[in-house]
Amino acid sequence: MSNQVSGAQAFDKTQRAKIVFSDEALKTVQKIITRYPEGKHKSALLPVLHIAQAEFGGWLSPETMDYVASVLKIKPIEVFEVASFYSMYNLKPVGKCNLEVCRTSSCWSRGSEDIVKYLEKKLGVKVGETTSDGMFTIKTVECLGSCGGAPMLQCGSSFHENLTLEKVDTIVENYRMEGKQKSYTDLDYKNTL
Ligand code: FES
Repeated sequence: MSNQVSGAQAFDKTQRAKIVFSDEALKTVQKIITRYPEGKHKSALLPVLHIAQAEFGGWLSPETMDYVASVLKIKPIEVFEVASFYSMYNLKPVGKCNLEVCRTSSCWSRGSEDIVKYLEKKLGVKVGETTSDGMFTIKTVECLGSCGGAPMLQCGSSFHENLTLEKVDTIVENYRMEGKQKSYTDLDYKNTL
């Protein structure tokens, strides 16, 4: 059996017509899948979820996860188990700038809680919420591997380290002025996979 996949494979197009990889994304998915033997498509799940998140609005809806399951020929629950485990996957819509504040020990001991509280007050939303203009989401995450720069936050592919309240002001204002999408999916997966 070949490793060829189709964007519409085992997928109910009548119900979820929009959830189909673009040709370019599908080509990349195909390339990833061929790294693994037939029957081991699940091994491609993490990178394929990154592509799905980038393709379908910056988050993984149940329909998107079902679609990924159909493409990889695995069960939807297997996709959900992985997508719900890792903080880089969003299971609900996020703002243009997804501010992911690390809350693990190094960052916590250097004031990450204050950073979160400050962001909540500044943006008028709680952790897990998105501002009404759709610009910012605040999220707390576990160690992002940048403990030497604690406290820190990630936004898109950028790390902001050694945070102070003043730095947070600058970061937020810069993103607001830029007004561009800065979710984790901004990573150029075509070059990084
Ligand atoms: S504890 Fe925050 S980056 Fe490691």
